[in-house]
Amino acid sequence: MSGITAARLASVLGPWRSKGPAYSALADRIRLVSLDGRLAHGTRLPAERDLAAALRVSRTTVASAYARLRELGAIESRRGSGSFVSLGARPSADSAPDGIPLDFTKAAMPAASAVATCYAAAAQRIGPELARSGYEIVGHPELREAVAMHFRRRGVATDPDQILVTSGAQHAIALLTRLLTSPGDRALIEHPTYPHAIDAILSARARAVPVPVDTDGGWDLTEAEAALRAAAPSVGYVMPDFQNPTGASLPDDARARLARAADRHATVLIADETTMWLDLRRGPREPLAAFSPSVVTVGGLGKLAWGGLRVGWIRAPRTLIARLAQSRTSMDLGTPVFEQLVAVELIAREAELVAERRVRLSEGLRTMRSALTEQFPEWTIPDPEGGLALWISCAPWSSSELVLGAREEGLALTAGPRFGLHGAFEHRLRLPFTESPSTIREAVGALRRSADRHASGPLPEPLVAV
Ligand SMILES: Cc1ncc(COP(=O)(O)O)c(C=O)c1O
Repeated sequence: MSGITAARLASVLGPWRSKGPAYSALADRIRLVSLDGRLAHGTRLPAERDLAAALRVSRTTVASAYARLRELGAIESRRGSGSFVSLGARPSADSAPDGIPLDFTKAAMPAASAVATCYAAAAQRIGPELARSGYEIVGHPELREAVAMHFRRRGVATDPDQILVTSGAQHAIALLTRLLTSPGDRALIEHPTYPHAIDAILSARARAVPVPVDTDGGWDLTEAEAALRAAAPSVGYVMPDFQNPTGASLPDDARARLARAADRHATVLIADETTMWLDLRRGPREPLAAFSPSVVTVGGLGKLAWGGLRVGWIRAPRTLIARLAQSRTSMDLGTPVFEQLVAVELIAREAELVAERRVRLSEGLRTMRSALTEQFPEWTIPDPEGGLALWISCAPWSSSELVLGAREEGLALTAGPRFGLHGAFEHRLRLPFTESPSTIREAVGALRRSADRHASGPLPEPLVAV
């Protein structure tokens, strides 16, 4: 596993100082960025002297922070080779920490009620499939047709051979970034954005170029055009509908403008539509793919139906589908046939699923907003038109402080900087409203107790303004 330079770690940590001893604040921040995936298990930490210089603190501060982390089992030190980040036996950086009852790290819901019925219906239809090889590298023909139809219904002419079925939308994002970027290429991202898209871009060794987006203000299109012109990114990853985490949607005229600008600079826009179905009161918009044939669309049923299904798709020009199918075989040889049959059943019940999600999410949003208004009168609570989460300005607290405090109160959350680059969004918090009303109220109570642990003070300035 590779090491991280002191300068890079300083950037990942962002503004880490808080009230209390510096060594303890530094240890807390290193622990948090390793728990939420910004610092991978096994990463070699910089030498104490180097980190002290990069952070402009004494070497004793860094040595004490490392000693504290060793005590907690969050790093392991090996004589002569340095200190390494350790997650212990935790299976994934983003999974709920053991023993923490309220998991708000995931903006996800339990299966919709139609899911069990669709599994039963697929079981009735699996028989004939067993007489075939089962290797459907581009996807089962029935599901490719159902997905193509889903695009046609939304006004975008689509043939089944423009569809590749994937094992979830995240798989689609990873396949696309791996194929369409080379190490050192630029990739335009919304800022904030979906953290695992950042992971996919960075693991393809592309360099992310951030463009601001916010719940109320939406996208800064002038900046997006300037970034496309200046950086000529290979790809641009956007969520046009109910963006995760802000809930913002790209207006129709902005879709046209963005697609035109991307075409001018030969940037392939990847439109992630995973959250497209989660409309609480906005009404339909034209898919980004309607504005240019080179737009590539990612979709999936994880948020509409159930994350455990692991079925997603890519809509793209046929030549790109062929290249994706070829490149996928080093990783897998197709998505399970049974789950694809379940997906066909689910897509046929789209309207019912959308209606069910709208009821649950509207109730979640109402409950979350009223609990927050009661417990945090100092905050302005956004009212997004859809999506899964609130993107809150949590000043005067720092997001990391709140998240670490919340863990002690039995609430697992993801800190704002996980959704951005270079330690940005330390004054932001993503609060999913996907859980039941009583769980949401409990979580907001735990958050308030976490806030009360930390006497509020002025926020430090971000280390790197982006
Ligand atoms: C915007 C976005 N894209 C992709 C995904 C991953 O979806 P899947 O579960 O289909 O891989 C998520 C899940 O949180 C998401 O919010």
